[in-house]
Amino acid sequence: MPKLNENYLNLKESYLFSEIAHRVNEYSNANPDKKIIRLGIGDVTRPLGAKVIEELHNGVDALASAETFKGYGPEQGYGFLRDAVVSYYKENGVSIEPEEVFVSDGAKSDTGNITDLFAKDNVILIPDPVYPVYVDTNIMNGRNITYMNANAENHFLPMPDKNIHADIIYICSPNNPTGAAYNHEQLKEWVDYALENNALILYDSAYECFITDETLPRSIFAIEGAKNCAIEFCSLSKTAGFTGTRCGYTIIPKALKFDAANGEQMSLNAMWNRRQTTKFNGVSYIVQKGAAAVFSKEGMAECKENIKYYQENAKIIAKELESKNIRYFGGVNSPYIWFECPNGMDSWEFFDYLLNNAQVVGTPGAGFGENGKNFFRLTSFGNRENTIEAMERIDKLL
Ligand code: MLT
Repeated sequence: MPKLNENYLNLKESYLFSEIAHRVNEYSNANPDKKIIRLGIGDVTRPLGAKVIEELHNGVDALASAETFKGYGPEQGYGFLRDAVVSYYKENGVSIEPEEVFVSDGAKSDTGNITDLFAKDNVILIPDPVYPVYVDTNIMNGRNITYMNANAENHFLPMPDKNIHADIIYICSPNNPTGAAYNHEQLKEWVDYALENNALILYDSAYECFITDETLPRSIFAIEGAKNCAIEFCSLSKTAGFTGTRCGYTIIPKALKFDAANGEQMSLNAMWNRRQTTKFNGVSYIVQKGAAAVFSKEGMAECKENIKYYQENAKIIAKELESKNIRYFGGVNSPYIWFECPNGMDSWEFFDYLLNNAQVVGTPGAGFGENGKNFFRLTSFGNRENTIEAMERIDKLL
């Protein structure tokens, strides 16, 4: 008999967004005549930009002739895409090297897979509430998690506690689910804490393109010292509408080295390279062609148009909540609006209430952690018509 990974027994029965999809499907099957508006999972609705589409087509055409055909590509990503990422960082004032960029099918996979590189007995610090992938993947590996409270009092931006030692710290900024974003000084405190503790920061910057406040850092590597203590994950899902196309990248500085028990120095860049070349065969050439187009002048301008569209949706949602005197966070440097459930409802109660009475789907805060149990998340990634209609329904209901 195979001995199974019994850590799976410690997980919730299903992944948050699968649970939501299940409940919505049940409701929809029982009420086929009702129009449901989905503002739950952060899935985009705008089509890909014209430049990206053109390059995806060029990628397909290249595979049609023997001269330009591509078989296996480099596991780390094609040079043209790694270079494009390096240039993008440079435009934001951050210098990285192409060999520090690893192209992947998205930040969800990489933030989960990175756990392969770490021993079981690390002290893992994770904010609560948080993107559930960080928690679930550590539970799958049998690790204990120390939670740090993110709440209205600290504006959902927990700061380091000098009395707690951590080995690995997860930070997502702008944050999923709360929409809160760290400033330079706050991130510098985290970097200093990590350096003092000889710890590693796993920094998820999947929502950096939603930052509107120019003073906020868009990368942890904008902070002095971060290359000695941080890995950054980013994704084209939200930047360029690649939720279905799938492409992201992870930056692992070459300077990131830690001592093994035998005194040997281990490089996280080399370890990840070893892991990826063993377990991953790279992202398709076609997708990487489209991804590189995102970073072109034309491609980025088209992405920004779509982002503007979603930001307008966020304003529409925020305005409705304001009119009801509901306290909310996010929506300014983030596509997510995070608000207190009205009338003392808990978040799953409010989820059911909204689905049953307004046919609007959101994400219950409890799915992101204990501190989210009285909060609710709406996404601005819907289309305009549906966002407006959802707010009209909420207006009538509350
Ligand atoms: C979310 O809704 O939290 C995101 O879409 C999840 C993800 O990016 O995987």
